[in-house]
Amino acid sequence: MQNRVPLIAGNWKMHKNCSEAESTAEELVKLVSDVKNVDIMIAPSFVSLALVNKKINGSNISLGAQNIFWEKEGAFTGEISKDMLISAGCTYVIIGHSERRQYFNETDETVNKKIKTTLASGLKPVLCIGETEQERESKKTFSVLDKQIKNGLQSFILEDLDSLSIAYEPVWAIGTGKTATKEQAQEVHNFIRSLISKEFNSKLASAMRIIYGGSVKPDNISQLMNMSDIDGALVGGASLKSETFSKIVKFK
Ligand code: 13P
Repeated sequence: MQNRVPLIAGNWKMHKNCSEAESTAEELVKLVSDVKNVDIMIAPSFVSLALVNKKINGSNISLGAQNIFWEKEGAFTGEISKDMLISAGCTYVIIGHSERRQYFNETDETVNKKIKTTLASGLKPVLCIGETEQERESKKTFSVLDKQIKNGLQSFILEDLDSLSIAYEPVWAIGTGKTATKEQAQEVHNFIRSLISKEFNSKLASAMRIIYGGSVKPDNISQLMNMSDIDGALVGGASLKSETFSKIVKFK
């Protein structure tokens, strides 16, 4: 994995009310306090961000948001701005998750705008990409990812992208218990890194964290992390219990 610091992130999706989020965060702080050389992030719902931030303050856990809107402020009912996320304590923003693409009309174009805003505000974007089962079966995996990356990162310059991570989340592996094999994931991660190298340069490509998401659990994390191009995980279901997530964080 070269010298890339792994990123293990928990995407809580639409789970946990405010007090549940607070108590999970509180437990997690204790469980992972001894972990070094791993970046740990949790992304609760918007309403819990500031509360969770208070619980993780001073710990080795960072706060992430599950979405962002690109406008600074204004009449955009239901949306959330970069300033709001920063004031709630966020460091990371998950962008373009397949559930947002599938249910909320997220497109490569909106993803592109959101990444732009995120980078300009000093927050760290985690760009999510991934193919559906049908696309994999019809051998379109690489062309789908190629398009998602090229369009999502269109018109960025090299200097912009230092803090970007990419999460490869095959849609067929999300919440299904069907993890990609370590070989399947490695093959795709290697493809993504080569594409970044071709589109930008090899220095950026070798520094960029490419993390895997899709049914990551305590019992499959180590084999995934052993692969040379897998730099961490974006965890859904298994991040909801502090004890389970802490085992993933301590994958070694
Ligand atoms: P699961 O870990 O529940 O499969 O979800 C993965 C995911 O979508 C993380 O963003």
